[in-house]
Amino acid sequence: MPRDRKEDPLHVEVSRAGMCDMFARIATRYDFFNDLLSFGIHRVTRRVLLREMNLQPGQLVLDVCAGTGALARRAVARGVKVVGVDGCDAMLRRLVERVPSVPVVVGDALNLPFADASFDAAMIGFSARDVASPLRMFSEIARVVRPGSIIANLDFTQPPGRLRPIYHFYLRTIIPRLGRLIDRNAYWFLAESVERVISAPDLAAVMTDAGLLDVRITYCGLGVAAVHTGRVP
Ligand SMILES: C[S@@+](CC[C@H](N)C(=O)[O-])C[C@H]1O[C@@H](n2cnc3c(N)ncnc32)[C@H](O)[C@@H]1O
Repeated sequence: MPRDRKEDPLHVEVSRAGMCDMFARIATRYDFFNDLLSFGIHRVTRRVLLREMNLQPGQLVLDVCAGTGALARRAVARGVKVVGVDGCDAMLRRLVERVPSVPVVVGDALNLPFADASFDAAMIGFSARDVASPLRMFSEIARVVRPGSIIANLDFTQPPGRLRPIYHFYLRTIIPRLGRLIDRNAYWFLAESVERVISAPDLAAVMTDAGLLDVRITYCGLGVAAVHTGRVP
């Protein structure tokens, strides 16, 4: 039976403004905690996303919800030009510290401040479950990316049956306790948003509904994450 969200001690409501405040509070420790909480597994999943995108040097790629630039940095190392957009200025400041060559724009993933067909590709890392409407986000990204180009999304997903209870135990007990060291609400929110993330096939259906073609799923990170790719018509 689904848990009653109002009764759920783990449930944390976060508005868009609240989301930015939350990421601003953890921006300086975000990358360290990603490594700690995922045992470094997120690094493997980022490599999978870049492999699936098959980007070519010189291409111009939009990193949506770019955060501190964990994807942008790896793409730039492959000779790709990246523009980062994110709603949280503090996260983008960290990105610029780490990869000064990447231009950044503060903006909403649901209303991107770019002209139609401005980019050769787009990528989104660990953010689709944070936005109010993933459908709208993918439609909006498809607008700013050239027809025929690839859009790739990396996020947590529901892991296979046997792993699921262990994984949910980890999310409900370990992550909030460790996260309390830096920000109690942020890591409660993280744990809850990961626990209720939609399945990979359901996210693929959202991308298809947004108009993307040939949507494919690649599971990675021991099955707790998935890369989705789709083409702009
Ligand atoms: C979990 S972080 C992921 C950062 C980075 N992509 C990564 O792979 O590590 C989520 C990011 O999404 C941003 N974000 C959430 N909702 C947004 C929105 N509607 N528009 C723009 N950025 C948003 C947050 O500010 C935050 O930097």
